[in-house]
Amino acid sequence: MCGIVGYAGEKKTIPILIDGLKRLEYRGYDSAGLAVISKERRLEVRKSPGRVSELEATLKDMPETGNRIGIAHTRWATHGEPTKENAHPHIDCTGNIALVHNGIIENYEALRTYLEERGHTFISKTDTEVVAHLIEEFLKEKGTTFLDAFIKAIQHIKGSYAIVAISVLEPDTIYASHLSSPLVIGQGEGENFLASDASPFLGKASEVLYPPEDEVVVITKDEIKLFDLNKNKRDPVFEKLEGTLESIQKGSYSHFMLKEIHEQPERIRDAMRGRLLLREGDAKLGGLEPIWGDIVNAKRIIISACGTSWHAGLVGKYMLEEIARVHTDVEYASELRYRNPVFEKGDVLFVISQSGETADTLATLREAKSKGVTVAGIVNTVGSTIAREAGVGVYIHAGPEIGVASTKAFTSQVSILALITLAIGRAKYITQEKGVVIAEAMNALPEKVGRALGAEDEIKSIARDFKNSKNFLYLGRGANFPTALEGALKLKEISYIHAEGYPAAEMKHGPIALIDENMPVVFVAPQDGIYEKVLSNIEEVRARKGKVIAIANEGDDRIKSLADYIIRVPRTLGWLGPIVNVAPLQLLAYYLALERGCPIDQPRNLAKSVTVE
Ligand code: G6P
Repeated sequence: MCGIVGYAGEKKTIPILIDGLKRLEYRGYDSAGLAVISKERRLEVRKSPGRVSELEATLKDMPETGNRIGIAHTRWATHGEPTKENAHPHIDCTGNIALVHNGIIENYEALRTYLEERGHTFISKTDTEVVAHLIEEFLKEKGTTFLDAFIKAIQHIKGSYAIVAISVLEPDTIYASHLSSPLVIGQGEGENFLASDASPFLGKASEVLYPPEDEVVVITKDEIKLFDLNKNKRDPVFEKLEGTLESIQKGSYSHFMLKEIHEQPERIRDAMRGRLLLREGDAKLGGLEPIWGDIVNAKRIIISACGTSWHAGLVGKYMLEEIARVHTDVEYASELRYRNPVFEKGDVLFVISQSGETADTLATLREAKSKGVTVAGIVNTVGSTIAREAGVGVYIHAGPEIGVASTKAFTSQVSILALITLAIGRAKYITQEKGVVIAEAMNALPEKVGRALGAEDEIKSIARDFKNSKNFLYLGRGANFPTALEGALKLKEISYIHAEGYPAAEMKHGPIALIDENMPVVFVAPQDGIYEKVLSNIEEVRARKGKVIAIANEGDDRIKSLADYIIRVPRTLGWLGPIVNVAPLQLLAYYLALERGCPIDQPRNLAKSVTVE
């Protein structure tokens, strides 16, 4: 949700900023802008509604810059429409200060009134602009340095922020601070970077610093300094920058989403590597060790998340209750946080997040921690806020996920939940013999997902037949009910076709009214314990002339007479089914969106990481 890039160094600043913004465009893409300082020490600001490529087109007349520092921003609008005026950077009245922000300044109205009373003129409708004017206002006080004014401005704002500011008064220096919004600093040779995540400086910086919240980072090309809000110097702790350039490039694929769908076999293997113990029929998750006793003895597991991660959590409920026999509740983080939830002794909370930044999920984590609940994170992005604040947890190791519609993160999250399920089950009552059967089934998942992805040609042809459909229904039962939800979500997100996911039997309590010859109904119908019941639900749809697209197991002949279209997937244990069965649903959404000419990696109105509530 909004991407920020900053650069201090002697290389050509603008191409570095634009390249950085493109790498962060998954975070928001309704407008973009940048600010650099010219050789004459003037701020040069360019902004544009639309994508980063549209900003690029406005840069042709840029004067020579000093190539010393620059900041840039790609926006996902919260306050004010995505116009040029509302795009960042925002400038103060003197035109000396430029500032970009990610997050929400909750008290901006009061601050704006205060500043307007003191003669400040505002150009935009954003919450952000107040911060540029606040710094300007505080700088008027005699003897105030930019650092003083920046700190004072931070102390006056409420809400969440990553704020980055530059000024012609100090043309070599970038000031930054953050609270509940991500900010990462990259250290290179004679150049330094900052950004919302490390992708803009992959291949350019060797070390990263995750600055503590509510401290100020002061960056020049040669130095990265940290101060607390009392201006005491702090020691920055750098870490080696992990990750490859390849992981954030599309390679030969036409979209990141397609690349990420096809990466899944490998990523599931990565999630399980070193954690799945085949011979012992068990699993070991080192990151959970500090609280493993609490997990095994939990009276209740609560899983909280948003979006696709919530669907993964719901699969987790089916797994944990059936196999580990532990009562599990799954909660939307946005609901749990405001409900004054009842936590009890013996509760363990897992928060799941791909980005590790989602505001509601983070708030849930904090709420539960403050109430003394044992918490753990299941997170993809290394060093993200949720990962750090959870303290205890498991990285899913899916690598950067750039397509806005989440795919590989889902299957990796579910794989981790399967490992936790196996480990709890083994600690409680599952025999080694049964554990070995489960572990072998899990070990075979990457190959089975690869086979499921082999149905690409049938899926393309189904997409051609249904590209003009206005609605889709996705039905499944048991652990495949969340699979159906996830299939429907993928379709909505990227093709803009309305889709509903439902428990197959629940269909007759409402959605059945929608079924006629124009309604495609996708059934997730593997030969698991509830297969026969699903067949009856298919009959009910057929009786009303609905078009049945079945996700069915290889070798299942009975489905032939019932379904209009069949997509074959390999068979696995029922509760592991979602990991395999979701793959064709991701491809179906992808190819339907492709047929309809949609911007697949950057669907309208969505953002990859939602750092506002
Ligand atoms: C956004 C993304 C979804 C994601 C959800 C939760 O809505 O577009 O793909 O599932 O946030 O994100 P998280 O990073 O917490 O998994």
